Amino acid sequence: MDYCITNLTEHGDSRGMLISIEEGIDVPFDIKRIYYIYGTEPDVRRGFHSHKNLIQLLVCVSGSCKIHLDDGYETSEVFLDSPKKGLLIKNFIWREMYDFSKDAVLLVLASEKYDESDYIRDYNDFLKFARREK
Ligand code: TYD
Repeated sequence: MDYCITNLTEHGDSRGMLISIEEGIDVPFDIKRIYYIYGTEPDVRRGFHSHKNLIQLLVCVSGSCKIHLDDGYETSEVFLDSPKKGLLIKNFIWREMYDFSKDAVLLVLASEKYDESDYIRDYNDFLKFARREK
């Protein structure tokens, strides 16, 4: 499946930790947009979409959450429980985010600006797109 988990480099000293993410070095794309999801209510599941042309790096910078991934053939679950763990997701991967801890802040770096026409929000449409791409 077109995703990978990367270990971000931590710069720590006696004061605490710092992680830096640079385009072209820590992410293989130009960062055109940043957003973050927080204050998620208990038992909420969100996402339920795929993209036609978007690469994203997800980092749960506080707390934890789970990500369900589906490429139309197989599914996978990723537990984001560390600010050091980056989840890189490419095109035509259906994603759902769930099990957010109360303190979860999910940071997302994206290769494109927000464009609703890039979304595939219907699961059956996603399956058609994903299987055509293979
Ligand atoms: P939505 O797509 O429902 O979030 P999720 O996929 O995480 O469930 O987005 C929620 C709202 O935020 C919706 O009105 C669109 C808006 N939005 C932006 O304006 N810019 C963005 O970059 C994103 C991701 C969402």
